Amino acid sequence: MKSIQRLFSASRRTRTAQTAALVLFISILSSGCIGTPAMLQPASDNATQISNLTQSILVIAAAVFIIVEGLLIFTSFRYRKRPNAPLPRQVSGNTALEIGWTAFPAIVLAIVFALTLGTLIAIDTPPAQAGAPASNASSSVNVLIIGHQWWWEIQYPDLGIITANEMHVPANANIIMKLQSNDVIHSFWVPQIGRKLDAIPGRINTNWFRSGNPGRYDGQCAEFCGAEHALMHVQIVVDTPDQFQAWVNDQKAPIPTNLTGQAAVGEQMFLAASCTACHTIKGTKAQGQIGPDLTHFASRAKFAGGSFDNIPANVSDWIQHPRELKPGTVMPDLGIMPNMGDTITSFLETLK
Ligand code: CUA
Repeated sequence: MKSIQRLFSASRRTRTAQTAALVLFISILSSGCIGTPAMLQPASDNATQISNLTQSILVIAAAVFIIVEGLLIFTSFRYRKRPNAPLPRQVSGNTALEIGWTAFPAIVLAIVFALTLGTLIAIDTPPAQAGAPASNASSSVNVLIIGHQWWWEIQYPDLGIITANEMHVPANANIIMKLQSNDVIHSFWVPQIGRKLDAIPGRINTNWFRSGNPGRYDGQCAEFCGAEHALMHVQIVVDTPDQFQAWVNDQKAPIPTNLTGQAAVGEQMFLAASCTACHTIKGTKAQGQIGPDLTHFASRAKFAGGSFDNIPANVSDWIQHPRELKPGTVMPDLGIMPNMGDTITSFLETLK
């Protein structure tokens, strides 16, 4: 009790420091909830259901916490040892209490289980079974997502488009995602769009979503997959239908053939270097399958598994020494000099 009195009689300065520490603590705790990915700002029906489930369980957990901790604190003070007090009444067993504290948690867990199962079934049911035909091309888009160490390959089999780390989808359409891996187990997770789903070698997992909120949503590989797991980001860009059609047209367009100056020199350097062994640029002899398809590299906001902003300085830096920037990456340091890095970059930046 004395320590509590001391706490309450603490100087104003101490209390200010305590308040500041508390505010800082809460800010750090809640810092994961603002910006993107913003767990508490769902942008699809599936993410909304997950968010609602989270909040329901949070309320239940908070109630349990308050009841249990309240009883604990009440009991600690009410029945604490007092000087010269006699030994308390010795109790051995109380059937009603024991049934109560077994049944109560079982009921609470059963409620949580039912809520979770309901949400799981609701968000996993593919649209075809939910009444919206997946075969209707105008209302659904098929995407094949392949996890690589450490980037995401994104294919649109029906559209003939292959890209990386940035997945464009039209708003208000059913997006059917098939997920697989090229090497180890990864996990595709864009919190504002939907649940986590593992990308497993030799297996195809299916998931779907539908978003009515155009915007750019960050995601992160959510399964430890090696040295650069933390630098394996993905972005889902929900476009308006017109924006999506424009994006599709751009992605299907051939690369520019009328390059001049530094960009033209850069193209020759790229095609002469061993870049072509790993990367594809459609319409050129570069047909490598190991690294990301670069045909429309400049249309993406980020590169190298979403690690860096796609600006010329970063791209040139990356070409010169990828393993310094992302140790463990498959892309080798080829000893490319700064002026060559800049020249190749000026070519890559034409690949809109
Ligand atoms: Cu891929 Cu973690």
